[in-house]
Amino acid sequence: MPVDELLARKPRGIILSGGPESVYSDWAPSIDKAIFEAGVPILGICYGAQLMTLSLGGTVEHTGRGEYGRTTLTRSVSSPLFADWPPGATSDVWMSHGDAITGAPPGFVATASTPDAPVAAMDDPERRMYGVQFHPEVVHTARGQSLLERFLFDVCAARPTWTHTNIIETSVDAVRAQVGPRHVLCALSGGVDSAVAAALVHKAVGDQLTCVFVDTGLMRAGEAEQVEETFRRQFNVDLVHVKAADRFFSVLAGVTDPEAKRKAIGETFIRIFEEVARDIARDADAEGNGLLVQGTLYPDIIESGTEDAAVIKSHHNVGGLPEDMAFDLVEPLRLLFKDEVRAVGEELGLPEEIVWRQPFPGPGLAVRIIGEATRERAEILRAADAIVVEEVRRAGLYKELWQSFAVLPAVRTVGVMGDGRTYAYPVVIRAVTSEDAMTADWARLPYELLERMSTRIINEVEGVNRVAFDVTSKPPGTIEWE
Ligand code: XMP
Repeated sequence: MPVDELLARKPRGIILSGGPESVYSDWAPSIDKAIFEAGVPILGICYGAQLMTLSLGGTVEHTGRGEYGRTTLTRSVSSPLFADWPPGATSDVWMSHGDAITGAPPGFVATASTPDAPVAAMDDPERRMYGVQFHPEVVHTARGQSLLERFLFDVCAARPTWTHTNIIETSVDAVRAQVGPRHVLCALSGGVDSAVAAALVHKAVGDQLTCVFVDTGLMRAGEAEQVEETFRRQFNVDLVHVKAADRFFSVLAGVTDPEAKRKAIGETFIRIFEEVARDIARDADAEGNGLLVQGTLYPDIIESGTEDAAVIKSHHNVGGLPEDMAFDLVEPLRLLFKDEVRAVGEELGLPEEIVWRQPFPGPGLAVRIIGEATRERAEILRAADAIVVEEVRRAGLYKELWQSFAVLPAVRTVGVMGDGRTYAYPVVIRAVTSEDAMTADWARLPYELLERMSTRIINEVEGVNRVAFDVTSKPPGTIEWE
């Protein structure tokens, strides 16, 4: 967007976000320097701070020592951004950078550093410009949220107007306006996102909504039964249950590339919806386009790549949709993060077991089977996963963890059981804490819990002879393995 167009909107402040490029790469997004002369408060984060530095005459260098994950920030000069931070010079912050700001631009004062970022925070209070090399927007930066609040409330004099009640009212109005008298289908998965999306749309348009649950054969144990129970029996929602495992396994035959799997699943999903829609034969508008609700969240959109954001994975409910799809999407959650979705779900009266269910990716177990997703492997993984979840619940950790699940790398390793040699799959336990899935920390599960899971998986799940535990945070890993 040209700077004059941006300024015509009279922003109270501007945040220049982070991004995956190096400021020195050929593809590096640039910025019109006029933005720094408009007198509007600016906060640059990571890449945004580096861009600001270069534009204003400071230095950014490729030091060869990037920082990824948790690091210690040492504050040397007081700053309005750190007004709420506890006394003491050091705090944990989350970093994800290759280049580093090595010299603040004229007019700026460096206010903090980390071992590999000499200028980890800088202020120019006169021009109301601030830069941070770390990521205040992620939960693992202690007090990151309050840094953003201080920038918005104190520097920009902005006030919050975004509450759960008005999110619901705004969404309900928007859904009514989009849907009008038409009929809507909802892709219900049993997870919190699609459930809250369905509840919002149900609130908006009542029985114009039909929910469709596609059993892909790649769901968690007991999931189909729970969907039936909650939506058909408790909520009285018009529910179509499609048993489509055969079809999904046949399109996945021989497919090993993660993106190809997601696309194949996304496409099959949509084709099934089109068939259901045709069967119902009452949801097509004059152009023949039906309406489909999806529980897409804001992080899905960011990670699928907006115009300027890089694609990390194509989430099947965003980037993987076939281009010739004959549905218009209704996405009432597309501006929300997970914690907001849960709060909205509670406010709408959804049961706790749905609101607090750990997230599950749209392509299901297929992205947790590394290699070809076959029926046999899905069954092994489902059984192992059920044990992981059961033991996590029993240990009272289910709600505390963002996700806890099993992964099946489709390689075989040698083992010995009883008197015999085994040659079977390993199962990897993945458990993370997170607030919004944008970043995550691997969960320090107690050894006794890991031991119980390992023993039970090996004893109870045929085809598995080894259990490992994933100790990677995000970044550098992603939460799912594919
Ligand atoms: P990653 O693996 O990218 O996952 O760190 C972030 C969060 O998104 C979930 N996820 C998905 N959700 N469709 C979805 O609806 C998908 O294709 C998909 N892929 C990942 C993942 O479980 C985690 O909570």
